[in-house]
Amino acid sequence: MPSPKFSYDGLFSSRSQEVPARKVVHPKYDFVVAYPDPETVPLDGLVDGLKEGLERDGKDLAYYPHPLGLPELRELVTSKLERDRGFKVTPEQVVITSGSSEANWLVIQALTNPGDTVITEEFVYTGTLGQLRRAGANVVGTPVDDEGIVPEPLEDLIKLLIKQNKRPKYLYTIPEFQNPTGTTLPRQRREKILEIAHRHKMPILEDDCYVDLRLEGKTQPAFRSLDDSGIVNYVASFSKILAPGLRHGYFTVPDEVQRRALSFRAGGGPSQFTSYAVVEYLKRDMYDHISDINGVQRHKRDAMLGALGERFGGMGAKWSHPQGGLYVWLEMPKNYDMTALQPICFEAGVGYAAGANFAPNGNGDNFARLCYGHPSPEYNREGIALLADIIEKQMAKNKARVAPGAR
Ligand SMILES: Cc1ncc(COP(=O)(O)O)c(C=O)c1O
Repeated sequence: MPSPKFSYDGLFSSRSQEVPARKVVHPKYDFVVAYPDPETVPLDGLVDGLKEGLERDGKDLAYYPHPLGLPELRELVTSKLERDRGFKVTPEQVVITSGSSEANWLVIQALTNPGDTVITEEFVYTGTLGQLRRAGANVVGTPVDDEGIVPEPLEDLIKLLIKQNKRPKYLYTIPEFQNPTGTTLPRQRREKILEIAHRHKMPILEDDCYVDLRLEGKTQPAFRSLDDSGIVNYVASFSKILAPGLRHGYFTVPDEVQRRALSFRAGGGPSQFTSYAVVEYLKRDMYDHISDINGVQRHKRDAMLGALGERFGGMGAKWSHPQGGLYVWLEMPKNYDMTALQPICFEAGVGYAAGANFAPNGNGDNFARLCYGHPSPEYNREGIALLADIIEKQMAKNKARVAPGAR
């Protein structure tokens, strides 16, 4: 006889929330998530790297991993940061995490009390937005333009928040190929924002996870390379250059923040087994691989931009021309509700992320983020053409529906 169902009524912690069961369905033309190209995941190289790592140090798997993550990988991170971002840290100042999601989450928890105000870009990566809200933050977006955060309105916003007794605790920003808008913040603005941050004693959480995906133009210095006072907390990822399925990222922050952030770590950190594959592969092939994936992504970006030019220009749309990263930010005229259109397009085979998902201030219905990284160039072209067809059809239907009442 089956046992009667046990009830958890009254037993859940007040902090727990119900997560709705989510089926993962990929539409035929998948512009929803910033995935890399599946063909460029270096499977053979990872297998070789894993074998090498296991042959040399595999017996260490009998221990729990180092609390900061595999030492060799932390060393590789320090040389990468020095070479690519121009700042020096020691391996003890680097923490390997389960993707940069965990890195952000640990720092957010170390710095956020429920009710604290946190500033982000006006549109911001949904993952971090969700984490900030989960930590109880009052998230406020600051205005952005084609070059990212505009310093003067940022300072006005801080002053206003202080006046309202909501002094911002910190600024979370994605300065290089911002998610979702794709902008890169120029050096001068970074310097101004640092001045503002110091003036208001407001740390910066810098999420640099797209920096390696530059197709053209010049990489700007990281906030962290412009300022070593400790005001900048730096986060990055291996998801975008290798694969998100590996779940490897890292952060480097002032020692006192690191100690607090680690107090929230559960389960001992990411898999050391995976770290062997990541470090041995990257030691050998990191920069060749980055150059290969960017070659592939350039075609995809150009295919998407070409198709947008052919099909969306006539609708009065505007879109970004990203110099890298993995997406295009599409702005439709105000009467196009991309939030309402999202399920209709998805059902018809084209997935995108509606702009409102990224908006802490609740705007963005006429925006969409289109990721070109995973579909082939052909699928980028076909998918954008199909998206235009569906939107045109739906808008015509809406018009026909509104017209009788309007008469
Ligand atoms: C800005 C930003 N930060 C962090 C992440 C999380 O990536 P991961 O946890 O795979 O490193 C993403 C993923 O898309 C992102 O866009």
